[in-house]
Amino acid sequence: MNTLHTAPVKELLEALHIDAEANYKARYEVLNSISDKEEREKKHDELRKTAYMSVSPEEGSLLYFLATFSKVKNIVEFGCSFGVSTIYLAAAAKDNQGFVITTELEANKIEQAQKNIEKAGLSEYVTFLQGDAMQTLADVDTGIDFLFLDGAKELYLPVFNLLKSKLNDNAIVFADNIDKAETNDFVELISGLNAEFVTTKTFNDQVLIAHYKK
Ligand SMILES: C[S@@+](CC[C@H](N)C(=O)[O-])C[C@H]1O[C@@H](n2cnc3c(N)ncnc32)[C@H](O)[C@@H]1O
Repeated sequence: MNTLHTAPVKELLEALHIDAEANYKARYEVLNSISDKEEREKKHDELRKTAYMSVSPEEGSLLYFLATFSKVKNIVEFGCSFGVSTIYLAAAAKDNQGFVITTELEANKIEQAQKNIEKAGLSEYVTFLQGDAMQTLADVDTGIDFLFLDGAKELYLPVFNLLKSKLNDNAIVFADNIDKAETNDFVELISGLNAEFVTTKTFNDQVLIAHYKK
């Protein structure tokens, strides 16, 4: 099975990526028109609440490729926004007879993500948890085969520490935006955990992929 390349998933993702790109351009048009630094930062925080900030089609394809190639079953995502990356992960979960647990802070985003997953015909493969990942993911009681980190960058390390004991042997940890300084503590830790993790970076060093060898 190749759920990613079949209807309605393929067409929906194409439409969502177009919408995400338009949303990004509109956001930066507004931000670039504000000269006052403080005002711009305030607006930036406000617009984040309705911004996709989604993975690119290439990154999404890599998520799907790794998850299907490794036949992972239990997938956990930190930060789903409108559910674009969740669709890639849920498509893999369908192929692998697995499931996705995802979490998102903003109520309006998770509501839209649920609608998108429904449109993709993948609702039965996803559990949505609304709230702060440090609380919502604390109750995950299954072993994790694939962990996708894409929420608040300063929480990569706390979320990783929260879930590390639940990672199964051969688990994949995929972290986006590791070029952001707030992720440095996480990157340093996972790169140095006595070689428990085999790590590599890609997408111009913006993405870290780690393979857990217990
Ligand atoms: C980069 S976006 C995620 C994009 C999504 N993974 C995609 O590719 O479509 C990051 C999301 O993490 C959410 N977030 C930030 N802090 C969070 C927290 N403490 N718990 C849960 N979600 C959080 C933000 O609201 C935002 O929607």
